[in-house]
Amino acid sequence: MVDFIPPAARRVVVLGTGGTIAGRAASSGDNIGYTAGEVPVADLLGGIAAPEGITLAAEQVAQLDSKDMGFDVGLQLAQRCAALLSEADVAGVVITHGTDTIEETAYFLHAVLAPAKPVVLTCAMRPASSLSPDGPQNVRDAMAVAATAGAGGVTVVCAGTIHGAPDVQKVHTYRADAFASGDAGPVGYVEEGAVRRLRDWPRSGAPFALDAAEIAAMGWPRVEVVMSHAGASGALIDLLVQERASGAAAPVRGLVLAATGNGTVHHALEAAALRAQQAGIEVLRATRCASGRILPRPDDRLRDAGALTPVKARIALMLELLAVKKKAQGAA
Ligand code: SIN
Repeated sequence: MVDFIPPAARRVVVLGTGGTIAGRAASSGDNIGYTAGEVPVADLLGGIAAPEGITLAAEQVAQLDSKDMGFDVGLQLAQRCAALLSEADVAGVVITHGTDTIEETAYFLHAVLAPAKPVVLTCAMRPASSLSPDGPQNVRDAMAVAATAGAGGVTVVCAGTIHGAPDVQKVHTYRADAFASGDAGPVGYVEEGAVRRLRDWPRSGAPFALDAAEIAAMGWPRVEVVMSHAGASGALIDLLVQERASGAAAPVRGLVLAATGNGTVHHALEAAALRAQQAGIEVLRATRCASGRILPRPDDRLRDAGALTPVKARIALMLELLAVKKKAQGAA
């Protein structure tokens, strides 16, 4: 049986996590000297008209500068989204977030939730106290996506553009239109409250069962990102391997090499990464390039992360290691 939900009963829930969108500066002309994560999410909705037939609700999940984001907040968001999306009258969820790590939270939610309904992250490059804040329009556009019939998956909406979670990257330090989707291009645009879609909504595989108590007991697997660059050495990796061998409390379990071009790695770093792999640490190469994917070669000795950026490859590897640990514990 298909539930019939009259349009008037549809809800969009806005979860607040902080960021510049909730930032406040001493002067309205100051767009960089503000404190992120100050304005409550309910206040951010003031004066923004909900899409027709939609009732809005706001919940504060966190209030921080997203440079300090951790997976415990990601887990809280995932659980809250899953609960809300299972309610028949919830059309979708909007999450207000800082721009600096929004692509990481979006990718995490994409990987663990695989939602049929829309989860739309949005942000701002100028604080709420700005003479001309970009947050209100972004929130309005995000709500429009969340309320759109047939919308789904995890997206990031900024400056009128809808980006898919697997593709989105922050590419500018200052401009309001700070995001790009690389080769994939945007999912679409929001124009005067209407979605103009260019391609399919992002979809992922099966949802990943995340149990907060289980993760608290197991801990998030530690995965570090190490960059390959001219003059790189293997010293950092060797230190991590030594630390692990010494019985440290949270030893490194995975490494992402932020590799050059088509996944190439400085020979000294590669030698250290191979030693780490030999010692039982999972190693993944992800390209530093803003666009494109790593095309595998038959002589590769270290796995590659395809089109994932190093920070997204880190999340993918953390989830992979978590799944391995869960399986091992289930089998024990
Ligand atoms: C943050 O990421 O929380 C601060 C920067 C921003 O939102 O633009």
